[in-house]
Amino acid sequence: MSASLEALFTPITLKTVTMPNRLAMAPMTRRMSPNGVPGADVAAYYRRRVEGGIGLIITEGVGLDHVSSSGHRDVPNLFGEAALAGWQGVIEGVHAAGGRIIPQLWHIGGARQPWMEIEVPGHSPSGVVLGDFGSAVAMSRDDIEAVVGAFASAAADARRSGFDGVEIHGAHGYLIDQFLWDGSNRRDDDYGGSMENRGRLAAEVVAAVRRATDPDFLIVFRFSQWKPIDYEARLATTPEELRRIVEPLAEAGVDVFHASTRRYWLPEFEGSELNLAGWTRKLTGRPTITVGSVGLDDVSREAAKPRDLSDLLERLAAEEFDMVAVGRALLADPAWANKIRDGRQDEVTGYTQKALASLT
Ligand SMILES: Cc1cc2nc3c(=O)[nH]c(=O)nc-3n(C[C@H](O)[C@H](O)[C@H](O)COP(=O)(O)O)c2cc1C
Repeated sequence: MSASLEALFTPITLKTVTMPNRLAMAPMTRRMSPNGVPGADVAAYYRRRVEGGIGLIITEGVGLDHVSSSGHRDVPNLFGEAALAGWQGVIEGVHAAGGRIIPQLWHIGGARQPWMEIEVPGHSPSGVVLGDFGSAVAMSRDDIEAVVGAFASAAADARRSGFDGVEIHGAHGYLIDQFLWDGSNRRDDDYGGSMENRGRLAAEVVAAVRRATDPDFLIVFRFSQWKPIDYEARLATTPEELRRIVEPLAEAGVDVFHASTRRYWLPEFEGSELNLAGWTRKLTGRPTITVGSVGLDDVSREAAKPRDLSDLLERLAAEEFDMVAVGRALLADPAWANKIRDGRQDEVTGYTQKALASLT
């Protein structure tokens, strides 16, 4: 194995959790858990990726115990006896195969889409709908308290169930990001206006998750500049603005930042090659996960061809970031990581949308 490839397959300890290598499965919604309960097929699907060489599974976004958290009946929940029993099977399978697993805690807020079956008004900072379906109400302080509580109780359930930590979904135009982004947050109380105020909900969620678990429990926070309705949207246009977002979150208890970009090789700000994960690591001193078209040459949801990993490996070896999350390449090929490790790149086929049809 080349020295740079070895960096990808070197273990890392985050908080008290040792990951067997630097590869994470990116969270990907599959909507294949009937009535919110992940079954044996979901367990086998995640286990297969660990057997295929992935060290850390970040699950698809999971529903919380709050009325407008999820939009679809087949998105798995992280509350209620049946769903928690289902997760038990998933966790055991991943651990038996030598991997680690954290659930992604998800509240969609006012991001309402036509495919959503759960027809309740969304909850969003200012009643803005960030999709093309349904309606949303502006959240009251009681609503905010209830949502923070739902994140905390899901984290407590995750810990009791044997998950290795949690990822808080603060990205992609969903609830927490709706507060962070001035395009969707028009509040004039202390949850709106300045960056500090827009970040208040995120920080409260992190602090509540910390209180509901314990000081050693691994908390990952995912965030993004881009939104599905606006790929060019930005929370921060300078490193200083980014600092004002991530520093309070680190102080609130985030252990690892997962900086979601669509192409990991693009510099985030002028004057430096660092990507968003690189800048976040530099500004906070916390470990970071990078993501976005790893192993693929295109951001398309339809199809993408394999892409060489040399630049990714150089950046990892230079400690720009600590872990690498892989999405579509892993949907298409559960054994992708083992093939990369063993120098069998020629057996990697790339991605086509066919991979979405089943849980293979
Ligand atoms: C089918 C699909 C479902 C996704 N669902 C989620 C999700 O539930 N939560 C999330 O944070 N990102 C989600 N994403 C984004 C991925 O986690 C990842 O950031 C993105 O696909 C870019 O990585 P890739 O180029 O390696 O696929 C999803 C992506 C795909 C393709």
